[in-house]
Amino acid sequence: MQAKEIKPGVYWVGAIDWNLRYFHGYLTPRGTSYNAYLVVDDKITLVDTVKDYLCDEMLSRIRDVIDPSQIDYLVVNHVEMDHSGSVPEVMKIAPRAQVVTSTKGKKGLQRHYQDSDQWDYLMVNSGEELNTGKYTLQFVQTPMVHWPDSMVTYLPEAKLLLPNDAFGQHIASYQRFDDELGWDVLHEEAAKYYANIVLPYGKQVSKALEALGGLDIDMIAPSHGIIWRSYLGNIIEVYQEWAAQQTEPKALIVYDTMWGSTKKLALALREGLEEAGVPVVIRFLQTSHISEIMTDVLTSRAVLIGSPTLNNGMLPTVSAFLTYLKGLRPQNRLGLAFGSYGWGGQGAKEVSAMMEDFGWKLTQEYLNIPYIPESEELEQVKEAGKNLGEAVKKAST
Ligand code: FEO
Repeated sequence: MQAKEIKPGVYWVGAIDWNLRYFHGYLTPRGTSYNAYLVVDDKITLVDTVKDYLCDEMLSRIRDVIDPSQIDYLVVNHVEMDHSGSVPEVMKIAPRAQVVTSTKGKKGLQRHYQDSDQWDYLMVNSGEELNTGKYTLQFVQTPMVHWPDSMVTYLPEAKLLLPNDAFGQHIASYQRFDDELGWDVLHEEAAKYYANIVLPYGKQVSKALEALGGLDIDMIAPSHGIIWRSYLGNIIEVYQEWAAQQTEPKALIVYDTMWGSTKKLALALREGLEEAGVPVVIRFLQTSHISEIMTDVLTSRAVLIGSPTLNNGMLPTVSAFLTYLKGLRPQNRLGLAFGSYGWGGQGAKEVSAMMEDFGWKLTQEYLNIPYIPESEELEQVKEAGKNLGEAVKKAST
């Protein structure tokens, strides 16, 4: 396997997970990569590793450049096992290497790996440096972007930022650089990644962007997907927008249905929103995965969620989506719940209560229609969509 030199003496030596389709709840139809970087200098440094089952692929790429037993420093920017999974194997091959990590990184590694108590650690704080010869490695802690141990490594002489998970995308590719794939596909995958992994930590992302703002950077090499060198300005700009929970004047309707009534309500709401001039994305929970829907949530100003009532509550598909949403904490949204029922009618009520708990602004009470909506009722629902559309446009100005 060949390494790829991305800066003089700095090599991508990661591994490509072509067939990964599921990443802790997140569907990854394009697979992913785990990016490790080798800095060949007077002292040799490996920054991050790969999942354990791809360790040989990474070692083969390292061997393309040096003998891995020569590694002096192994930087662990983040303990999650997609990046630290091959640390034990590297430490077996290069037992004299120092593990460079944050205090929380050391604690995390010791909870993950049996032999980790034997390793020689060099703990680093924000602003601390390590000189390797012609390069300096500077470390900046980025707690909760997206684990407490997370940190980034910056090489000022190379103008290179190695931010681990931040700026990543789940894409498997033989290409390494953004201009080889194009902004559109990268933007889509970076948005999906942000919405499903980074979204709850907007404040911390803003802080991290501020801390990195003063650095001279012409390349960002994350730990998943493609390396940014031509679309640096674009990716930083959208990260700022996403971290600030900025949305676009558009609406997302998410629903499930038992006998088609809640679907009729969803379509009537769409009609009303569109009449108000607001673009609408409509997602059916039996065919769209919740991780795909999150990409729409990221940029939609209004989110409408519909469920019929089943067994005195909402449908399990809607409940799963709301549980996922609750964890990812999108803010500054306008919400509207809707549904149909035979008796009881708790489905839409429960959806509405959860939206309220999220802190979303509900422009009106939930819509709840018995059995099958009549044409007059559909007109009223359409009107509710129209009113919400007006609120979306107002909120956007
Ligand atoms: Fe890519 Fe948080 O691991």
